[in-house]
Amino acid sequence: MRVGVFDSGLGGLTIIQAITKIFKGAEIFYIADTKFAPYGEKTQEQILQHSLDIVDYLLKTHQIDALIVACNTATSAAIKELRERFPSLIVIGTEPGIKPAIEATLSGKVGVMATPATLNGNKYQLLADELSCSNSVELIEQACPGLVEQIENGKTKEDKTVSMLHDWLKPMHENEVDTIVLGCTHYPLVSDTIKEIMGAHVKLIETGCAIAQRLKALSEEQGHTNNGHLEINVFSTGKINKNMINEILENWKDGGEIMVRSND
Ligand code: DGL
Repeated sequence: MRVGVFDSGLGGLTIIQAITKIFKGAEIFYIADTKFAPYGEKTQEQILQHSLDIVDYLLKTHQIDALIVACNTATSAAIKELRERFPSLIVIGTEPGIKPAIEATLSGKVGVMATPATLNGNKYQLLADELSCSNSVELIEQACPGLVEQIENGKTKEDKTVSMLHDWLKPMHENEVDTIVLGCTHYPLVSDTIKEIMGAHVKLIETGCAIAQRLKALSEEQGHTNNGHLEINVFSTGKINKNMINEILENWKDGGEIMVRSND
């Protein structure tokens, strides 16, 4: 089994981490599209084009059987087109976990942090309107421009990052939000700071485990036995912060066999 995974940068590694916990016997090819990061402040057309270029490369160079779009922003802009163009490929996208958040909230107030492109996309708007109306839950949305760059540059604990998070989380705090959707795969990398600001009682919703389970189920339907070791190859299209990769990998207990290649 050969699985292609991509994101604009390091964020999708939070999805890979969840995959390593339950998925075996496969080679993973992870592309961090750092040359064009961040995606969240680009147009839908630009994000679609970058996504198509990466999938083309993954198919031609690594002959992947499954694709995970480990990026909420690229899922919003490109998942429909990717499914139409590559019908024989298992294609799994990443969407903000509004449904689990609505199930988890007790206060009826849910915060959603995501990139501007994800929050403005039709896909998110439709899902949010439908779920929040039918469950009478108020969604307090917050775009976080600039946060992905801070994380890519390894500045997760820097004063500027903490102060950005303070400003964005203030309306959520004032509204007594008890659950926050991390609608960008980079944001779990600052979840400690979010918890410090909001308090430990606030639930943070990420989607890595659900994606890993979906990958396992869909690949088993196609005869994958889920045995043997997992090899993870990490590539980037531009410069990548290797210290950040090491920091992320250090937190993995069962990281498979990880080989990091990059071209900077
Ligand atoms: N990690 C991404 C996401 O899930 C993209 C962030 C970006 O490049 O702006 O949305």
